[in-house]
Amino acid sequence: MTIGSEDELDRLKAVGRVCALARDTMAEALRPGITTAELDGIGKAILDAHGARSAPGITYGFPGATCISVNEEIAHGIPGTRVIAAGDLVNIDVSAELDGVFADTGASYLVPEATPQLVALCRDGRRAMWEGIRAVRSGAKLADIGTAVGAFARRHRYTLIENLASHGVGDSLHDEPGEIPTWPDRFERRTIADGLVLTVEPFLSLGGRFAEDRGDDGWTLVARPAALCVQYEHTVVATRRGPVVVTL
Ligand code: CO
Ligand code: CO
Repeated sequence: MTIGSEDELDRLKAVGRVCALARDTMAEALRPGITTAELDGIGKAILDAHGARSAPGITYGFPGATCISVNEEIAHGIPGTRVIAAGDLVNIDVSAELDGVFADTGASYLVPEATPQLVALCRDGRRAMWEGIRAVRSGAKLADIGTAVGAFARRHRYTLIENLASHGVGDSLHDEPGEIPTWPDRFERRTIADGLVLTVEPFLSLGGRFAEDRGDDGWTLVARPAALCVQYEHTVVATRRGPVVVTL
């Protein structure tokens, strides 16, 4: 989506708020003993209460309202009977449609007690996302996002998953202009259009370089080489003055 009116921006902000609320409410409920299905139910209740619909459900037939990925799972985990334990690393990704407009947000959380290495990974995953978001500005290069994230990852000795891209969002979950690399990509030559709505969602890892289908349920992705990984994601509007984040 490219924002063309105040009304469109208002509707994007509205769905962005609902996604953020579902994400944060699920995160607050995260504790040892809760199942991923129970967490998903909390998110679904928030979407329902606001009249929003789960985007992966209506777009791809995903069997859950939200994606919940635990430890070795890095994305597209299906909510179910898995019980959260102390020390788990849990990614919650919420995307939804409201009033014809889609937004998408995600974050990784630690269930105490976590190791210092994992605490640092989460802190730095968030910082990596903000490095990318700061590069969003209409007229700038789309590649600036991945360049900024890549420089951060290299400086702090992390790897990036290089086949799970950010994307346009708004008129659909995965919208024009298609996939947007959050890693350095010298073939990425496009310019950021004024009003473009996109996600910024780098996957920062302790060694993983690409995502692979785990091969059992048709959805769950794991990192190769096998390594822990975090993802932080916001939906952002590109303006001449910089990024406007709608999923805070
Ligand atoms: Co997402
Ligand atoms: Co996304």
